[in-house]
Amino acid sequence: MELLKLNTTKSGIAFSDELKASAMAANSLLHSGKGAGNDFLGWVNLPSSIDKEQIDAINACAATLRAKAEVVICIGIGGSYLGAKAVLDAMSNPFELLHSEHKNPIVLFAGQNISEDYMAELMEAVKNYSIATIVISKSGTTTEPAIAFRIIKEEIEKRYGKEEAKSRIVAITDKARGALKTLATDEGYATFVIPDNVGGRFSVLTPVGLLPLAVGGVDIEALVAGAAAMEQATAEGVAFEDNLAAQYAATRYALYTSGKKIEILGSYEPKLQNINEWWKQLYGESEGKDGKGIFPASVTLTADLHSMGQYIQEGERSMFETIISVEKPAHEVKVEADEANLDGLNFLAGKRLHEINKMAELGVQLAHIDGGVPNLLIQIPAIEEKAIGALLYFFEKACGISGYLIEVNPFNQPGVEAYKKNMFALLDKPGYEEESKAIKARL
Ligand code: PA5
Repeated sequence: MELLKLNTTKSGIAFSDELKASAMAANSLLHSGKGAGNDFLGWVNLPSSIDKEQIDAINACAATLRAKAEVVICIGIGGSYLGAKAVLDAMSNPFELLHSEHKNPIVLFAGQNISEDYMAELMEAVKNYSIATIVISKSGTTTEPAIAFRIIKEEIEKRYGKEEAKSRIVAITDKARGALKTLATDEGYATFVIPDNVGGRFSVLTPVGLLPLAVGGVDIEALVAGAAAMEQATAEGVAFEDNLAAQYAATRYALYTSGKKIEILGSYEPKLQNINEWWKQLYGESEGKDGKGIFPASVTLTADLHSMGQYIQEGERSMFETIISVEKPAHEVKVEADEANLDGLNFLAGKRLHEINKMAELGVQLAHIDGGVPNLLIQIPAIEEKAIGALLYFFEKACGISGYLIEVNPFNQPGVEAYKKNMFALLDKPGYEEESKAIKARL
């Protein structure tokens, strides 16, 4: 496939007929809807089901927010935050803030923590900018974004009055349930719906990801087109030899069962750092249950070679590495010759940084393989919307297959409730009286 290539030859895994058949059976389960968690398979055919009307509606809402606000604050956590953050960072110039003229509003995030300093500094930073907010919560009851929304809503209403505030607040939530839905209906906010059958971490291609991205100037039509191309390329009936998601999932599974319990996702492009974070949630929350699952870790290279590089090369041999490699950069920067050559770098004169970066990538790959770290290589042609869309869907599809291969339900997250129960008990939330007494006795 042009938008994404997968090379597993350096993983040391040969695909047996049994492994291929298991991966294909897992892929079929995602399509037949007969596997665990089948209420949450709406993402499988999502990209191809997004029509022009939906894209236009999202772009129209984004245009309104773009016209009104210099800063748009996106409120959400987990799957209601990481996808937009990941793609926005990938598609943006990280130094945009230093440019005197901004093409796009600045998109900031809140509700992904409960830090008082974060909130105070965010509110201070936007003091002199016009603002709007997109509040995202599928359940509509998640504490972190609900707290952030209360504070940001109050600020918007204080600044602009209740009536104008309504046009500066957009809610993305369930079609009928949850406190956010009630609030949005009562207040008359513009709303977008998160489909019932799409879980948070699989929701980047719903309005959850698409609206913030459109506000930030990302071509969401191209993003969805790239995802749709990957949907087709990994569909039911596509042979294992052509199905990159099945190959990635099969390789991971074989490595896992051979004792490789940690997967490190890395890239030599710092703009992709938050793709790692999105991927970590996708795989960690989907696979990590019933005492099973590969632990998803990440590095940004070459930076982390000077921190984690030692461990990867010579630490405990329980990991494998997946590298996202970008074939073509958007810019050109060369190392110039220097007459004095005091730094001894004239051997690089005339070379582009990209070429040097590629040699680092190749050298590291071989060193890590020599050190007992199997390597998978994902290649994308460039950091552009279509390729990123294909990458997102590739990871989603492979995640579903991987979950079924290790025989867990990849679409639930029962484990995230434990901390909430304790937090509510410690905060004396009504209804938690017994838990409150019990937990306080433990302190
Ligand atoms: O993947 C998931 O389901 C979670 O990470 C959720 O996205 C996260 O907990 C936020 O939930 P909500 O959108 O209901 O506020």
